[in-house]
Amino acid sequence: MHEEINIAGCCNQATTVERTSSSVDEARENRIDPTDGEQIKQLVKERYGHAATQGTGCGCGTDSNEPEFSFVGTEYEGQEGYVAEADLGLGCGVPTELADIKPGDTVLDLGSGAGIDAFIARNETGEEGEVIGVDFTPEMIQKATENATKLGFDNVRFLEGDIENLPIDDESVDVIISNCVLNLVPHKQKAFSQMYRVLKTGGHFTVSDIVVEGDLPDPLRESAALYAGCVSGASEREDYLQLLREAGFDEVSVVREHTINIADEILLEMATEQEVAVFRESGGLSSVTVTGFRRD
Ligand SMILES: C[S@@+](CC[C@H](N)C(=O)[O-])C[C@H]1O[C@@H](n2cnc3c(N)ncnc32)[C@H](O)[C@@H]1O
Repeated sequence: MHEEINIAGCCNQATTVERTSSSVDEARENRIDPTDGEQIKQLVKERYGHAATQGTGCGCGTDSNEPEFSFVGTEYEGQEGYVAEADLGLGCGVPTELADIKPGDTVLDLGSGAGIDAFIARNETGEEGEVIGVDFTPEMIQKATENATKLGFDNVRFLEGDIENLPIDDESVDVIISNCVLNLVPHKQKAFSQMYRVLKTGGHFTVSDIVVEGDLPDPLRESAALYAGCVSGASEREDYLQLLREAGFDEVSVVREHTINIADEILLEMATEQEVAVFRESGGLSSVTVTGFRRD
């Protein structure tokens, strides 16, 4: 299945951005060091803390002074277990749709945000299963926990913690899901090893994420807005799949994908026309849903 998502502006609505040289200069000043994991985590926590307290977001870009865009469109429509208050529009797929969650399963949602995918998973595990969300942004944990309380679910809980060092026992989880999160994690090999550690033998993961099909030019790779927007922390597709295999997973495969077309108006906020052209020529971005199994 291959579809296209066109990102023309906030929440997929076309916008006209008046581009001045000062706006590009400002964006250039707002750079991150892609090798500084702690700086990146701080940025991500701030941006998603803001998204949680605003009550709603319209995509991965979460600061009102910076471009915002949504990778999800209307994909959640008709999903059983969907809870509107838990959906801040921050995902890039619907991993639960392909996660083969069974009644009684223990499901772990990495970067659970306000809880949208955890609640859809709870609809599938039923009362006899358990759903655990982990997120390192305290405001997200608070919001998700409030949502679980309102829904009266006593088998859905949210833990504050870092995916690079999960607060979860070894071999205790049947299914891992995650939605538009792993691109934000600076040390992906650590995250993937943690995923392998906590899965039971025979367990599997289904994660939706953003990958790069070619190279991101430096100004885009170093943009704080694009990092928080799930773009500049994204790995190249084959590297991502290879890191999962190296973590020990078998049968790693892409089961759904969409091409993501971010409009020039957004990219030109942080890069020159020439840099944007290089990005386009290198292959651009995709949203992918990936599965893999722990066989031993
Ligand atoms: C783009 S949002 C997606 C939220 C949710 N999955 C959804 O679809 O609505 C990314 C979430 O991942 C969390 N996150 C990012 N890096 C993390 C890390 N290293 N450990 C734990 N949570 C992390 C953020 O706090 C944020 O809530």
